[in-house]
Amino acid sequence: METKILPGSYPMNGGDGEVSYARNSQCQKRAVDDAKKIINEAIADLIDIKNLQKSSNRFLIADLGCAAGPNTFFAVQNIIEAVDNKCKTMQKNDPEPDHQYQTIEYQVFFNDRIDNDFNTLFRSLPCSSSRPYFAVGVPGSFYGRLFPKQSIHFMHSSNTLNWLSRVPDHVGDINSPAWNGNSIFCRGDNKEVAEAYLNQYKKDMEVFLNARAEELVAEGLLALVAVGGRPSGVPLCQINMGKTYEFLGSCLFDMAAEGIISKEKVESLNLPQYYPTASEMEELINKNGRFSIEKMETFPGPGEHFHNVQTWSMIVRAGFEAIVQNHFGNEMVDEFFHRYTKKHAENLSIFYGITKLVQINIILKRKVCSK
Ligand SMILES: C[S@@+](CC[C@H](N)C(=O)[O-])C[C@H]1O[C@@H](n2cnc3c(N)ncnc32)[C@H](O)[C@@H]1O
Repeated sequence: METKILPGSYPMNGGDGEVSYARNSQCQKRAVDDAKKIINEAIADLIDIKNLQKSSNRFLIADLGCAAGPNTFFAVQNIIEAVDNKCKTMQKNDPEPDHQYQTIEYQVFFNDRIDNDFNTLFRSLPCSSSRPYFAVGVPGSFYGRLFPKQSIHFMHSSNTLNWLSRVPDHVGDINSPAWNGNSIFCRGDNKEVAEAYLNQYKKDMEVFLNARAEELVAEGLLALVAVGGRPSGVPLCQINMGKTYEFLGSCLFDMAAEGIISKEKVESLNLPQYYPTASEMEELINKNGRFSIEKMETFPGPGEHFHNVQTWSMIVRAGFEAIVQNHFGNEMVDEFFHRYTKKHAENLSIFYGITKLVQINIILKRKVCSK
């Protein structure tokens, strides 16, 4: 099915069919599962239910970049269970035994860009009798304001912040030293290209953090899950995800050499993706100044999905089909992903022993006196 997408927007494949994100996001699900512990600890340590209930019994959660499900439902369910557990513990240990805690009512805001498949998302919501929250859809870019000031208690975003708001300046300009015509992604081994991508990432993160600082209540929490990332000093082209982009690019150049697509068109494709290191993230958050870093963990991200050719090519297709289709048209898409699957299979041995993406999970607390 051909999807019309807006410039600067790159939705995951919608629906619940064979090549949908809903059926091909096991790798991202793993990252969500792996962040459970840090989120549970953050809620246990940092949320003051008693204080919160002085103003209302509502607890508002937002998931930013939710796609069409189902990972967002697991993330939200986990947050709610953690808040419920925290409530029970506070009640049990309350020095004022007569203090009445109110039952919390949860409202969950599912955000993604306007061309996300919200229909599939809402159709697959857990049924209302087993769903302990009211669901709301919030269309729009998280690189900007989405909610009223000081309205949200907990924000979550997983596997999203690698997506830049746009392709960086100059990488598509043949006359610039940052021209990236020989590659479709930021390999990390060309200084000018890497700088252009990093600069865009810095701008985007500043806008993202400023918007969240406005929207969260004082001391509200922001969980950034699976942000990135690269091990320090290792260019993306030397890690598993970078190899994937390299193979996607080389299939496109092969197709151009055979006259199936135009070489200029391939040279002009630049994926709007940046993979920060943990220290780049820390520096950006500290420089922004509106959040304190309460918890942060890094560990090698999921790698086993790369070892299964079919699984991995479907995950890649579910995430990148729209961008390829938008750039080259629909006719070449099946052939392109067929070639990519073949290339991945031929090079499978590379994915054993190669450096993995780093999973960076960060819990931020909005400072009370945010700038
Ligand atoms: C890889 S999916 C992750 C989906 C889900 N959070 C998960 O962990 O499975 C990335 C999602 O981020 C969304 N996204 C990217 N840029 C965005 C933006 N600027 N504003 C809102 N959503 C965005 C994409 O549309 C996509 O649905």
